[in-house]
Amino acid sequence: MQAWVYEEYGPSEVLQLRELEKPVPAADELLVRVHAASVNPFDWHMLTGTPYLVRMQGGLRGPKDGRVGVDYAGTVEAVGADVTRFQPGDQVFGGRDGAFGEYVTPREAGAVAKEPANVSFEQAATVGIAGLTALQGLRDKGRLQPGEKVLINGASGGVGTWAVQLAKWLGAEVTAVCSTGNVDAARELGADRVIDYTQEDFTRSAGEHDLMLDIPGNRTWSECVRVLKEDGRLVLVSGPKTNRWVGPLGHMVSMRVASFRGGREAKPFVAKLNGDDLPLFAELMAAGTLTPAIDRRYELHEVPAALAYVGEGHARAKVVVSVG
Ligand SMILES: NC(=O)c1ccc[n+]([C@@H]2O[C@H](COP(=O)([O-])OP(=O)(O)OC[C@H]3O[C@@H](n4cnc5c(N)ncnc54)[C@H](OP(=O)(O)O)[C@@H]3O)[C@@H](O)[C@H]2O)c1
Repeated sequence: MQAWVYEEYGPSEVLQLRELEKPVPAADELLVRVHAASVNPFDWHMLTGTPYLVRMQGGLRGPKDGRVGVDYAGTVEAVGADVTRFQPGDQVFGGRDGAFGEYVTPREAGAVAKEPANVSFEQAATVGIAGLTALQGLRDKGRLQPGEKVLINGASGGVGTWAVQLAKWLGAEVTAVCSTGNVDAARELGADRVIDYTQEDFTRSAGEHDLMLDIPGNRTWSECVRVLKEDGRLVLVSGPKTNRWVGPLGHMVSMRVASFRGGREAKPFVAKLNGDDLPLFAELMAAGTLTPAIDRRYELHEVPAALAYVGEGHARAKVVVSVG
């Protein structure tokens, strides 16, 4: 099978498209022929080994796995002896190492779910990391309730485009913050109000909200406080990438510490990539309640360009890779 691999951390030039042995699924795994994948900033961090903290997971001296990509959608080709819920021919989606290659082997108990018939592979491939981050950030960490007001900073990226739609589905009133070129798209996704951060400082004009989902994590605690009600919550998805050792983590921890001083709460958050909520996405996509937002499409041989684009930090919605 063809798959993108890397032997040293670095920019997209370190990637090589190689011919690898087709994997054999373990007893609790599925063998999935990947048809589409999507790109996340996570892939870029793992490729470049930055911030250095990610090397704790990826390998201290160099990448220990070497495959790249996580979010996938495809067709089950074989199942291990212990697998009971899936069978060859099922169309599935989820997240597993190596999605920028022709085969992945998700565990049945991992991030895999059946794909609805009226959802395309490329649409299903957009869910993975970004969709689960948006859902867990709003619903679980943010405890967003119907009728509450939520402000989503960074509403135009992979996480943000899911978050706007999910917040509406959860019954909230949504304020979306993005740049000029993405204002119309945010409105079309369902935002009740859109603020262009290049034209106004939303921390001064947005008013108070029950919850702020801060996806870029580029504002100080005293700025965030201005958009939160007295008992408001701030869920932090990321932060400035300036610290090459810990990246966004420094900002997230310092915001948490700053929040100890008042009634409002800052909650740093790392999403869990599991299968628990993928059926919910399948159901909501099949019903047309959620529509995956896609920015660009690349072919498998163009993965380095797709990664470099997402690595620049201004992707609009999801970037997908057609794997064949
Ligand atoms: N904690 C977790 O578990 C978790 C999970 C997933 C992702 N993340 C992190 O969350 C971040 C976003 O992920 P993603 O998948 O949404 O990335 P993405 O698709 O690359 O999103 C980039 C978006 O961020 C927007 N943006 C950039 N600067 C901004 C600013 N100053 N104000 C508002 N928006 C801004 C860009 O819009 P403009 O071009 O309009 O500026 C672009 O649409 C990444 O840092 C990623 O590593 C964390």
